Amino acid sequence: MCGIFGCVSKADGAAKIIHESLKRLEYRGYDSVGEATIFDGRIHVKKDQGKIDEVHKVHNLDDLPGSVGIGHTRWATHGAPSRVNAHPHLDCEDKIAVVHNGIIENFSELKAELEGLGHIFKSKTDTEVIPHLIEENIKRGSSFIEAVREALKRLEGSYAVAIITSLEPDKIVCARKESPLILGVGEKALYCASDIPAFLPLTNKAVILEEGDVAILQHDRYEIRRLEDWKQIAREIQVIAWTPEMAEKQGYPHFMLKEIHEQPLSLRNALRPQELYMDLMATFLDRAKNVFLVACGTSYHACLAASYMFSKLAYLPTYPIIASEFAEHVGMAVNIDSTILAVSQSGETADTLAAVEHARNRAATVLGLTNVVGSTLTRVSRVYVLQQSGPEIGVAATKTFTAQLLVLAQLALRVAKLRGKVSHQEVKAIEKKLKEIPDVVERTIKVNEEKIRQIVRKYKDSRFFVFLGRGISTATSLEGRLKLMEIAYVPAFAFPAGESKHGPISLIEPSVTVIFICPRDRTRKTIIGNIMEMKARGASIISVIEEGDEEIKQLSDDYLEVLGEVPEVLSPIAFVVPLQLFAYYMAVEKGYNPDMPRNLAKSVTVK
Ligand code: F6R
Repeated sequence: MCGIFGCVSKADGAAKIIHESLKRLEYRGYDSVGEATIFDGRIHVKKDQGKIDEVHKVHNLDDLPGSVGIGHTRWATHGAPSRVNAHPHLDCEDKIAVVHNGIIENFSELKAELEGLGHIFKSKTDTEVIPHLIEENIKRGSSFIEAVREALKRLEGSYAVAIITSLEPDKIVCARKESPLILGVGEKALYCASDIPAFLPLTNKAVILEEGDVAILQHDRYEIRRLEDWKQIAREIQVIAWTPEMAEKQGYPHFMLKEIHEQPLSLRNALRPQELYMDLMATFLDRAKNVFLVACGTSYHACLAASYMFSKLAYLPTYPIIASEFAEHVGMAVNIDSTILAVSQSGETADTLAAVEHARNRAATVLGLTNVVGSTLTRVSRVYVLQQSGPEIGVAATKTFTAQLLVLAQLALRVAKLRGKVSHQEVKAIEKKLKEIPDVVERTIKVNEEKIRQIVRKYKDSRFFVFLGRGISTATSLEGRLKLMEIAYVPAFAFPAGESKHGPISLIEPSVTVIFICPRDRTRKTIIGNIMEMKARGASIISVIEEGDEEIKQLSDDYLEVLGEVPEVLSPIAFVVPLQLFAYYMAVEKGYNPDMPRNLAKSVTVK
């Protein structure tokens, strides 16, 4: 995820401060780095692809002159990692420099408009529209601050930005919308950063900017205004008592917990997939004779859920296949009329790439969904889309799973529209629910966390766990089981609840805990029957229910609630969240480090 930093100090030497602060943002993951300072009426820039130390070795980041500057670590979204795509980005006359974290959704329209007015773009990034917009506004008579305000008002999407100009060399203007931005208030300087760790050794006084805030920093003062009405507002200065290690995790004890809490944000980003590529993918899926959804582990569970989405929304049958089985299972059935949608967070999983290679050799069309620009999957896919989750550091996938589901749901909806399978009203209703999902997840985390922290104590000695769901919740139960098994080392099973009577029920006895996934969909009645069967054999029952489902509450020893009405096809996104928390707190309760489960790697690059 991109990191931004800005420094307005009294004395020269901003570049070195920025360099050291960017080093403290390295943990966020990045592929390029850059800095810009103002000195002698000019903007000075150094930037390149590579790690900070490598770029510093070649360019000496510290010898940029001046007391005001901005810096950036880039995690590519629009445009491959390269020097020209690295931030800061400048206007045509090199008078305005911008660093940005987020996604500008309407950048194509803005770019076309600005190119029409004669602006020359150098990079493939969405960010570059910002300096050109500001430049255009200044040309039309606005002051720098007015020009920034007018530009921000035209941006759709998410941003945390820091902007400098040689026209007013004593200041940084920064602003946030859906991307974090924090001010650091030092004795000799003011800072802005994506994250507190960036400035923590320099000052422990922080001001957390809120949605729609714009801050203007000068070395000895700052003001914060609302973008909307330009009213000045006061925000409290907080004294941060974190150690540097805690600060990297934003105060959370583990990256996994931080990433679970990041889901409302990563889901909002996943609601902004690249329109053009989504449409292309939908067309390929619609026209294919047969569609295979291919992935491993958690990403396979996303594929399994997606197969229900494609079927229920678009009446499109698809075959979810575990990548390592692809060639053996369906290899001979793949041909020029087949489309393979490969889903891989890392884009580097060897089994998934091998399946893709097999499909390509049989002339099939390969589509990709990944989190990593420039990964092998992006290079071998005919079309790919990015899930925009930012780097995931915890080995167990959490925020990347829910983001995959949300992108896949949007894709299924597009195929449905193409095929004319859903009415206009239905489309509108689901689109509305899609937008509400980040809030549902936010509320669900809030309401369950403390409860889960408590109940894991009660269940930690269960002999094993069984996760049961029906319909699309089969995927949710498989994912809940995988999380618990891989980080808390607890034996667990999962299968469609309907299968339990065909064998597994013989294992059930009082020392077993069964976790039921029970959205209010058409499987609910039958699931109640399955709960009764398990209760009758003495198992403890935990259910994950929609808020206020009194009937299932009564049948359960404990329940976890999803706060909001979620349509069936989106239910895994919300219902998996309590299961992620359950696995996390169970691992902690048992004394394990959930970030680094034994024997596992974040990206499995061997077959
Ligand atoms: C489990 C987990 C793994 C990955 C799997 C595929 O928490 O993270 O099961 O989902 O190794 O990885 P990607 O999605 O990178 O292909």
